[in-house]
Amino acid sequence: MIFYFTGTGNSFAAAHTIAEITHDELVDIGESYRMGRFSFRVEQGETLGFVFPVYDRAVPRIVADFIDWLAFITPNGNPFVPGYCFCAITCGEAVGNAAKELARTLKAALNIRLDASYSIEDVDNCIIKRSPGSPEARRMKNHAAHRQARSVAFSVNAKRMGSMEKKGALSAAAGALAALGSRKIDIAPFTVDRTACVGCGTCARLCPTRTVTIEDGAPRWDGERCTLCLACLQRCPTFAIDYGARTADRDRYVNPVFKRTPTRLSALAASVDMTVPDPDDVVRQGEYEEPDVDEPSDAALSAFALPAEADAGEGKKKAAEPDRLEG
Ligand SMILES: Cc1cc2nc3c(=O)[nH]c(=O)nc-3n(C[C@H](O)[C@H](O)[C@H](O)COP(=O)(O)O)c2cc1C
Ligand code: SF4
Ligand code: SF4
Repeated sequence: MIFYFTGTGNSFAAAHTIAEITHDELVDIGESYRMGRFSFRVEQGETLGFVFPVYDRAVPRIVADFIDWLAFITPNGNPFVPGYCFCAITCGEAVGNAAKELARTLKAALNIRLDASYSIEDVDNCIIKRSPGSPEARRMKNHAAHRQARSVAFSVNAKRMGSMEKKGALSAAAGALAALGSRKIDIAPFTVDRTACVGCGTCARLCPTRTVTIEDGAPRWDGERCTLCLACLQRCPTFAIDYGARTADRDRYVNPVFKRTPTRLSALAASVDMTVPDPDDVVRQGEYEEPDVDEPSDAALSAFALPAEADAGEGKKKAAEPDRLEG
């Protein structure tokens, strides 16, 4: 069973790519959390995986909380002992000590040992701090991430052990501070442009923590549980949501997996407990180009370095046809 959490699709894409190869069942943490579902039936000895984004070099709060509340039901009623337990953490650059933090959480909550940790570099979706890069740079990162996810899947099938994630330059102390910092989430900067908002409710339906509700035809943010996944902001079809002034002139980013095939769209719709009246209202037209991927050689697996990102400048997010979902 592979649990995944996603805000903008990178981890969703990675989890699906891995599960297609390992044939594991996928469970959406966001939907489960939203629906208050924390008990799952498993077979003793099956593989257990967690795929999620890193936030401020730490495990997203929603993922840590979910694991705290997670309970496994086994056929013989004994505590679940997976045959192999791994995590694949998606990131824009590096994951710091997030895998260690996850290992501690799993041990404390479920007495389960993390056997292997991987990272998958994709587009950095943290547009409240940084640009997501040029369309071409994003496309290349999406393709490289797809290759990395496939290599993770082969390693999972081979039950490879150890820490294989890219930690980046981060001391243990800085990692601990980052983990603490990521827990302090400020929802005050979220704003909505009421002239742009069409009251479709997508932001509320996508919010895994029910922080967003629709009041008087527009979103309102309230509560203590926002995990800063940015799904509400990034996936608003009319770009009506901002996070202070920082996002005003920045492109939005959504992984093209969300418009890949009708099957994937249906999976997305199911995963966030929403119906998609017209998918093209939520995701833009255009074909997603299936990455041209052969079985990776060892050399290919170790050569994920991408050319330096040539950010051609950020498009105005409210331009007539934003280029945020090019395939
Ligand atoms: C609040 C926030 C903090 C982030 N912090 C980091 C970070 O510390 N290091 C990093 O490499 N990427 C960071 N990112 C980028 C995401 O981890 C990355 O884009 C991830 O693949 C997004 O996954 P998703 O599309 O499944 O939501 C951050 C993103 C957000 C929204
Ligand atoms: S997703 Fe955008 S347009 Fe739809 S209700 Fe939310 S803010 Fe308004
Ligand atoms: S309010 Fe927005 S950023 Fe916060 S959890 Fe909900 S969807 Fe994610």
